[in-house]
Amino acid sequence: MATPPVQVGWVRPADNSKHPYKEAAVVVHPEGTKSPPGLVEHRPGAPARIVVLVSGSGTNLQALIDAENAEKAQHADEAQHAGKAQQAAKAEPAGPAFGATIVAVGADRTGIQGLDRAEQAGIPTFALRVKDFATREDWDRALRDKVAEYEPDLVVSAGFMKLLGPDFLAAFDGRVINTHPALSPSFPGMHGPADALAYGVKVTGCTVFFVAGGVDDGPVVAQAAVPVEDGDDEASLHERIKTAERALLVDVVGRLARHGWTIDNRKVTFQ
Ligand code: GRF
Repeated sequence: MATPPVQVGWVRPADNSKHPYKEAAVVVHPEGTKSPPGLVEHRPGAPARIVVLVSGSGTNLQALIDAENAEKAQHADEAQHAGKAQQAAKAEPAGPAFGATIVAVGADRTGIQGLDRAEQAGIPTFALRVKDFATREDWDRALRDKVAEYEPDLVVSAGFMKLLGPDFLAAFDGRVINTHPALSPSFPGMHGPADALAYGVKVTGCTVFFVAGGVDDGPVVAQAAVPVEDGDDEASLHERIKTAERALLVDVVGRLARHGWTIDNRKVTFQ
């Protein structure tokens, strides 16, 4: 049976007294049910709330932070030019150029550069280690609950080296993206660049996809091709891929945030 279409739009919750102006993503199922209940509409300008998950150096995270900061600077600059110095100091965290704001960064380990980058940017962080929980399922539920506290519209797994479990994915159905350093469906798993080199392909790349529970096999949002060059080793190839990957991720997150998206039978389209 074909996978039912899932539509993601934007909702203003009717009974959300805590965040009366917050626009949250809503998953609309074909039969018309939606969760949470509310009036579906395209977001009128509030930035999408993003939680980013990391495990290592966090250069993809940094690219997202830089995109948001560039937007803040642009807002401040525009306000100053309009002679509104006071308004500049309170510039909104995001606007039409990017459209997303990182509300928290989570990790599955401590002492990593990714968390340092978030802290330097003044973004709340948390770390939940699998080994601190009795079972993997307990960890997955704890991660779900922690991420949910930040009420994200979109969860971005950016170099997060753990598979997200069914409880986590059920809570953020159709709202979790991941980035993989290969052109899916080729070379899934932890060693995309090394596997591409070993196979001898001349072109590889990166893929941003919606997480569906398998290994790098969810609906593809966007891909970028990267050449394999003579003399490449795993490190040089991965670094070239990561340059493309950061640009792709910023572009994808911004477009998802600004436009919303539809996933229909694995086909992802921006609204
Ligand atoms: C990226 O290439 C990602 O696709 C892979 O690990 C790398 C993470 O890089 N899973 P960084 O931590 O964002 O620098």
